[in-house]
Amino acid sequence: MVAQTTLTQYLKNHTTPELASTITTLATASVAISQLLNKGALAGIHGEAGNQNVQGEAQKKLDVISNDLLLNALTHNPNCAGVASEELDEINPANDNGTLLVAFDPLDGSSNIDINMTVGTIFSILPYHNQGQKATEADFLQKGANQIGAGYFIYGTSTMLTVTFGAGVAMFSFDPISQTYILINDDVRISSDTAEYAINASNRRYWLPPMQQYIEELVQGDTGVRAKDYNTRWVAAMIADVHRILMRGGIFMYPFDTKITGKAGKLRLMYEANPMSFVIEQAGGASTDGVERILDITPTHIHQRIPVVLGAKNEVAYVKDLHKTAGILANGDRA
Ligand code: F6P
Repeated sequence: MVAQTTLTQYLKNHTTPELASTITTLATASVAISQLLNKGALAGIHGEAGNQNVQGEAQKKLDVISNDLLLNALTHNPNCAGVASEELDEINPANDNGTLLVAFDPLDGSSNIDINMTVGTIFSILPYHNQGQKATEADFLQKGANQIGAGYFIYGTSTMLTVTFGAGVAMFSFDPISQTYILINDDVRISSDTAEYAINASNRRYWLPPMQQYIEELVQGDTGVRAKDYNTRWVAAMIADVHRILMRGGIFMYPFDTKITGKAGKLRLMYEANPMSFVIEQAGGASTDGVERILDITPTHIHQRIPVVLGAKNEVAYVKDLHKTAGILANGDRA
């Protein structure tokens, strides 16, 4: 029998003690979240918590529980100088002498909980340089390219962890018997071409012309300019759609739309777009807001939203070209 590599062993050989300790803290919290999800209705976690989060969305009970679990665990980790959560208005300073900042979405796709579908926890780890001072929101406003770690825990038919430290992508599966994450792939790669795409097509009328054109071309399949048939897959939880792309290729889009005035897109730069873009690029894919590489965008606000197009390299380049030809300059501005 081939010896199995545990997460602890992997971290020891592939990253710094500080990052290893932070991932271990996240992993411990993920096991608690996964256990609550497994109990489902029996744990009394279904339904609304009665609050709204900073984005004006109703919070599910488990959103709140997951947020508290992660926040509490990370703020007690001495390596962690500050924590930002999609569910909280303000960042939380933690340990002044820590060297890392962690931003997380505690439960992505949380409307899936009540229907027993996949959800997950996404995390982004940035360096902290102001030791001896309390971390502020400004410390978090770094380009995604500065991330030193990112990934997600996915709670699906099994619980898994996908992580990158900037040298490829590793995937782990949680073994409920030994209660440990076991390495299942130490070099996740995605194909540069695809025939599968993910988008919420009901927003079509709110998209920019190049995005409308792109989806129209895919729908035309082998009768159109792309000369091949494409298939749609849409779980409606970014975590699950991105995980599928890492497993079998594809392109995922939540593009610029005019549905919510003043918001460039639905997904959050710090908690969703940056960590997923880092993972996708490290697996050989690409990621853009339609114009710029997402990892090159300097955030202006901790809860900033951004259009997202990520996955198969050639397909992402094609979408970018359509935007360029249409004269789209940035985040939906027209030439
Ligand atoms: O940001 C939350 C989220 O649930 C993403 O995970 C997902 O891709 C998206 O919203 C789905 O939103 P909608 O159903 O409005 O298209």
